[in-house]
Amino acid sequence: MIRTAILGATGYTARDLLDLLLRHPQVQVTALTTRQDSQPHVAEVHPSLRGRLDLKLENLSPAQVAERADCVFGCLPHAASAAVVSELLEAGCRVVDFSADYRLDDPQIYTHWYGVEHPDPGRMAQTVYGLPELYRDSIRGADLVANPGCYPTAAILALAPLLKAGVIEPRGIVIDAKSGVSGAGRSAKPHLHFPEANENLTPYGVGEHRHTPEIDLILSKWCGVNTNVVFTPHLIPMDRGELVTAYADVASDVSAERLLETLQEYYTDEPFVRVLAGIPGTKQVANTNFCDITVRRVGDKAVIVSAIDNLIKGASGAAVQNFNLMYEFEETTALL
Ligand SMILES: NC(=O)c1ccc[n+]([C@@H]2O[C@H](COP(=O)([O-])OP(=O)(O)OC[C@H]3O[C@@H](n4cnc5c(N)ncnc54)[C@H](OP(=O)(O)O)[C@@H]3O)[C@@H](O)[C@H]2O)c1
Repeated sequence: MIRTAILGATGYTARDLLDLLLRHPQVQVTALTTRQDSQPHVAEVHPSLRGRLDLKLENLSPAQVAERADCVFGCLPHAASAAVVSELLEAGCRVVDFSADYRLDDPQIYTHWYGVEHPDPGRMAQTVYGLPELYRDSIRGADLVANPGCYPTAAILALAPLLKAGVIEPRGIVIDAKSGVSGAGRSAKPHLHFPEANENLTPYGVGEHRHTPEIDLILSKWCGVNTNVVFTPHLIPMDRGELVTAYADVASDVSAERLLETLQEYYTDEPFVRVLAGIPGTKQVANTNFCDITVRRVGDKAVIVSAIDNLIKGASGAAVQNFNLMYEFEETTALL
């Protein structure tokens, strides 16, 4: 049994992570953290978990967490996360970090996009990016895995095999994305209140969303080409779910069939990526670790569509997939 802890256990990703970990035969959940001193029971914080785990959330130091856990899932916001993760690693824990802190490799780029100094810059360039479909071999045996962002997961899975195969052009890629409201986390923000978000569809972070450098970095590193994507996310009045529609110039002479075959060939053995002839939708992947993808040729453009559940394949399911790889368990354990 692997003793596991969750940091930031009051949040949405932590709730869905607990739901998955409690189905995992090799996991014992031994610590849940919060900044609150009232020590709420997990069932008070997440009523859907009532009867499944008898544990209180506690305001624990990293040293206290390290005493109780072998592996830690960090569900904290950026900057707060790396400050704790660095201590946990030094205390011998293995960590899957949900925040953006270890996804980029350059402290200056991090500061530019996130507006703070990185608390642990030395580890940035050495950390494995936890997208198993691209980096499975490096994730195995890693002590620290940077769980990808939700939008980057959907965007990179849609684009990476096509870019690598040279069937779409790297310049001029446009990524139009939509997310349910849980993508913004549980804490109250005015634009997320029901009367603001319900019956509304609005873009945000136009030209300046923090997932842009993450998408460009991974696509450029893994595909060996420089991209400079235009990424525009939208908030939609749904609880969960994310849809990416990406537009790219087709390389000359590449047919619609070849585009689809390129995705089918790359993902043929992947347990969680389904390449469809039909059109993906968020309902088909809700509460699952699947990413559904298709591609169409429209004139000189490839239109690639991918759908995920932002809290599962975009966060907690991906974290469990990474955990399974790190500890050499069957990759699909607790996920199918
Ligand atoms: N939501 C998604 O779809 C999604 C997808 C991929 C990645 N992520 C990333 O996963 C992480 C968790 O996301 P989430 O949606 O679960 O967020 P969340 O619902 O806001 O939960 C985060 C928890 O962290 C704690 N926290 C907040 N600020 C803190 C601070 N400064 N120091 C220490 N603890 C703090 C809070 O717990 P207490 O108040 O109880 O201490 C909070 O409940 C974030 O880094 C996020 O960017 C989220």
